[in-house]
Amino acid sequence: MLKSPKKNRRRTLLWGFLSLLLTWPLLRFVRFKIPVKPKKVHITASPSSNGVILQKDFILFSRNGRHWALSRTCTHLGCTVNYQETEDILECPCHQSRFQIDSGKVIQGPAKRPLPLYAVEKSSTDTGYVVTIEG
Ligand code: FES
Repeated sequence: MLKSPKKNRRRTLLWGFLSLLLTWPLLRFVRFKIPVKPKKVHITASPSSNGVILQKDFILFSRNGRHWALSRTCTHLGCTVNYQETEDILECPCHQSRFQIDSGKVIQGPAKRPLPLYAVEKSSTDTGYVVTIEG
């Protein structure tokens, strides 16, 4: 006995939906495990007199021949941290977490994790810098 095409289509749709429902958590897990390629950001600006270059996503420091960058995303709830020149620290305006500028370590919470530290190289083609942001 032949099944009606309408019944076949319903069965196909049902199996497709169930397959997607069952594989979705697996796909999310696998995607989470795939390493993201690091992003290279070229900076052509020169540091200010205190050795700081403020960017939207990170702050670059260039002092005494050492170059490093810290993320500006607070590890508490994601606000953008600011550089406090008078105290030479990074401070979050939302809940006043404070971070060391040389390592990103937490000086004062509520943030518990340090700010991500990014590698910085002097650019070989111009006078700027290349910041490597890990995914
Ligand atoms: S978001 Fe920065 S301290 Fe809360």
